[in-house]
Amino acid sequence: MTFHAAVITLYPEMFPGPLGVSLAGRARAEGKWSLEAIQLRDFAADKHRTVDDTPAGGGAGMVLRADVLARAIDHARALFLPGTGRGTIRRMVEGQDVESDALSECPSTSYAGPPPRTGEERTTPVPVLAMTPRGRPLTQARVRELAAGPGVIVVCGRFEGFDERIFAGRGVEEVSIGDIVLSGGEPAALMLLDACIRLLPGVMGAPSSGTEESFENGLLEYPHYTRPAEWEGRTIPEVLRSGDHAKIAAWRKLQSEVDTRLRRPDLWERHEGARVQSASGAR
Ligand code: ADE
Repeated sequence: MTFHAAVITLYPEMFPGPLGVSLAGRARAEGKWSLEAIQLRDFAADKHRTVDDTPAGGGAGMVLRADVLARAIDHARALFLPGTGRGTIRRMVEGQDVESDALSECPSTSYAGPPPRTGEERTTPVPVLAMTPRGRPLTQARVRELAAGPGVIVVCGRFEGFDERIFAGRGVEEVSIGDIVLSGGEPAALMLLDACIRLLPGVMGAPSSGTEESFENGLLEYPHYTRPAEWEGRTIPEVLRSGDHAKIAAWRKLQSEVDTRLRRPDLWERHEGARVQSASGAR
């Protein structure tokens, strides 16, 4: 099953970018995931291809228009429709609302579109995510859910952001990748896709490296070491050279807990809360 990513952006040339190489690049070449970068400007209604306007109520910057975003999202959703993966979309062409084939109306890409879907995929609606610092912080748990689905439509913000009405109007989930402000949603979209792609079946070499790592059990991962045993006067913890696997596992668990407690008290609190709750539920 291929994971389909459709990215709505003013800068389609930023994609696949780093996802064209290494693990993700190889996985895409193998058909494990597909990418369509959709130029938002193609869904503007005027000859200047305007996608934004001044904020209602005044203020600095520009805001992405809900009507333009809606046409782009409808187009992207049509690519996920059952059957051929093609769909009928409505878009503005020189001021006229026209109906046309979704893929032939996508001049920003030569992508052939998702292949015919199976019955299972037909019933799974594709999530539409808008990258914005106002969104809910992305978690590994959400990434896991997304990676298990048919794919994602990702909308990248620019300027001051999105007309708020698009979120309820098109069932769009607002997602932030952290408490930092990027110049646009594109790098955030690349991060989100990278996190999903590495979880797809057959993408990561050693399956255990995906289950023991940070966040998969609600904690930070334990520290790693490799040869040489001594480097610039610094040595490897003795237990890791003991060959005693039970002792090593216990040390790693303790390190994971101590580091989480010190570095991420927020994660630790949540982890402890969940542990106490499950212990009291078990009684
Ligand atoms: N766009 C700008 N900043 C962002 C952030 N922190 N997360 C997601 N999208 C963004």
